[in-house]
Amino acid sequence: MNKDTRFNVNLLNNLKAIVYTEYGGPEVLQFKEVEKPLPKDDEVLVRVHAVSINDWDWGLLHGDFINRILNGISKPKRKILGSDIAGRIEVIGKNVTRFKVGDEVYGDLSGQWGGFAEYVCASEKALALKPSRMSYVDAAAIPQAAMLAVQGLIDKGKIREGQTLLINGAGGGVGSYGIQIAKLYGVEVTGVDNTGKLDLMRSLGFDHVIDYTREDFTKNGKQYDLILDVKTNRSVFDYLRALNPNGTYATVGGSLARLLQILLIGPMVSLFSKKKLLIVALKTNKDLEYMNELFEAGKIKSVIHGPFPLYELPQAMKIFGKGEHRGKVVVTM
Ligand SMILES: NC(=O)c1ccc[n+]([C@@H]2O[C@H](COP(=O)([O-])OP(=O)(O)OC[C@H]3O[C@@H](n4cnc5c(N)ncnc54)[C@H](OP(=O)(O)O)[C@@H]3O)[C@@H](O)[C@H]2O)c1
Repeated sequence: MNKDTRFNVNLLNNLKAIVYTEYGGPEVLQFKEVEKPLPKDDEVLVRVHAVSINDWDWGLLHGDFINRILNGISKPKRKILGSDIAGRIEVIGKNVTRFKVGDEVYGDLSGQWGGFAEYVCASEKALALKPSRMSYVDAAAIPQAAMLAVQGLIDKGKIREGQTLLINGAGGGVGSYGIQIAKLYGVEVTGVDNTGKLDLMRSLGFDHVIDYTREDFTKNGKQYDLILDVKTNRSVFDYLRALNPNGTYATVGGSLARLLQILLIGPMVSLFSKKKLLIVALKTNKDLEYMNELFEAGKIKSVIHGPFPLYELPQAMKIFGKGEHRGKVVVTM
């Protein structure tokens, strides 16, 4: 074996990834070469073409209390983040039945992570086939944000024609899918976000927009049949005030203290009023087939910030952390 061949063999077993070995901000993320993983019997090896950034990646990067319990108290056990991936299957484990080599797939690998890399091993249960007309970039944007929108609006919120809906934190991932899903039900939708995102929100179909830096939607006297909240940062009493007498408030995330308040007070509210306060617990990948149907019918599109090359992922993460993104931040490799 000559020198050049050895070099090539080595490259085949390695891959480029964004790695972190300590908790911190985007500056602790390093662009590195690491060993290519091998799939277990019920896993596939995916050549990742695109990955999107989620709030959970941000939490795991910084290592807040709950994420340290999940990924190591003093330093991260899993060193490559990234859950929402789209790519092509290169190797299948011997017990894999749903996929074959060459299939184009996407899904949310939360709990396993590893998507900020050129290759990742994934349980076959975490993946769905990607329609051929859906790009890898569009597909990588979908899993967490679209599942939260579907499960918040349809499963928990029981959205119905003729309702009024408000989405709080509407200019990011969940909001950009939420508005498109809501419009399929013929509802009147108000979106709340900062000044810089209002034009995008109008272009996505929001009937009304509110700039949260200038107006508090819980104090302007308006009431809604359904509120989907991405940012829960107010007291339950504020949200109750903004609901119609039969209204439902469903939150997908926000301040831990506020979410605990909803968990404790929500059931009591239902005892003496018809208003509902609900928390959406993400069922990962449950509705990917539904998203495929909507995409193929031309009823849904992904709103992309980027895409950024893999080596610029720390920069993309900074943009995400500052809330400067519109829709989903996507990285390609
Ligand atoms: N329930 C579950 O099981 C589960 C699982 C995974 C994730 N999550 C949660 O799901 C959410 C992810 O949502 P996403 O992907 O849509 O996030 P995102 O892309 O970051 O969008 C959030 C939007 O809210 C805006 N915002 C910030 N502060 C606001 C305020 N006070 N009022 C109104 N809007 C505000 C942000 O803009 P600016 O910051 O620029 O103002 C941003 O446009 C997170 O809360 C995450 O924790 C839940």
